[in-house]
Amino acid sequence: MSYQNILHSINILVTSFTVPSNPKVQEEERRMSSQKDKQMFSNPYFIECYYTPKTKEQKEKELRAHQEYKEEIASLPLQQSLQQRPLRLYKGFWFHEIILPGILSLHHHLHPTPSDIFLATFPKSGTTWLKALAFAIGTRNPYALLSRHPHDCSPFIEGFFSGPRLPDLDVLPSPRQFATHIPYSVLPNSVRDSPCRIIYLCREPKDTLVSTYHYSKGMHRPEAAPQPMPLPEAMELFCKGLSMYGPVWEHQLEYWQESQSQPDKVLFLKYEDMKADPEANVRRMAEFMGRPFSVEEEMNGMVGEIVRLCSFEKLSQLEVNKVGVRGKEFGLAIKNSSFFRNGKVGDWREHLTEQMAEKLDAITQAKLYQSGLTYSNS
Ligand code: A3P
Repeated sequence: MSYQNILHSINILVTSFTVPSNPKVQEEERRMSSQKDKQMFSNPYFIECYYTPKTKEQKEKELRAHQEYKEEIASLPLQQSLQQRPLRLYKGFWFHEIILPGILSLHHHLHPTPSDIFLATFPKSGTTWLKALAFAIGTRNPYALLSRHPHDCSPFIEGFFSGPRLPDLDVLPSPRQFATHIPYSVLPNSVRDSPCRIIYLCREPKDTLVSTYHYSKGMHRPEAAPQPMPLPEAMELFCKGLSMYGPVWEHQLEYWQESQSQPDKVLFLKYEDMKADPEANVRRMAEFMGRPFSVEEEMNGMVGEIVRLCSFEKLSQLEVNKVGVRGKEFGLAIKNSSFFRNGKVGDWREHLTEQMAEKLDAITQAKLYQSGLTYSNS
């Protein structure tokens, strides 16, 4: 489906919402809307957020605001990314065009509650793992992951707001968990200023690049789109920040600095540390989330069970994570399995030449100089 078709479908979807007075008509409209919703929003777990009835005036206002965001976005610098998708430069970072309306909208409409948890990552840094762990810790029910893809556990907040219809987040049970790839400086003030908490998962840039490269090769691409570019070219773009939410270094540094100045607000985790000692990091997450494990839970082996059920080895073998696609609302058909490749630390050694690795390391060293942020086992 083309970008225009998607927007057209979204417009149809939005304009189809009415507030009928007759209960029977209302029920029928709701049923029909839900059919359309199911086609548009591939995530059935959060679809209720779009059910709250709105007046005609509200819908028109939302649509107008969406158009204005798109006009603002159209004036931003445009480049192709290593994912071969159009990116716009906004506040120093590169964003997929289709997501930017959501980011602009969040600035006006997101009202976090103190108990909200935001799971923040640069793409391909272990978001899927983080979502699974946070869900298992929050619910104390890791077994639900046997039939629920980690990306069905917490929605990406910017994707949620990227259509013209605003979701009603109040219908979600508390404490709510949202995911985001938005850099700290681009988060809405409401998130930065509220007592809600953020868990950031950081990954060493060479492995992040390799993971990004493989993932973008596997993404469904429209017929007309070019074939994946060679890795050296992709790396050049990555170094210039031309990958979604790039540059990676600034993304990581912002959250790192915030975690240093506001440790109660931002918990900074590293993928490599999590692989080395998952149990210790699960305990850190649980404490930070305000859900430390009780003595009884510790004795019952709850921590080990969460680690086991959220491990790459376990999740990647589950049927729910092996079949199906998502991202239809963005004209994509991303395989659920594409979030699981091999989950290794140091896999870059299999893919990057010595010169490529040296170049990336030199950039990393220069960017992180004197920041205190380092990568272990890289
Ligand atoms: P690789 O491509 O290096 O294998 P994201 O979730 O942000 O899209 O990141 C995807 C990366 O995290 C992929 O890395 C994927 O294999 C890895 N991953 C997914 N689930 C994981 C898990 N449970 N434990 C560790 N790594 C995981």
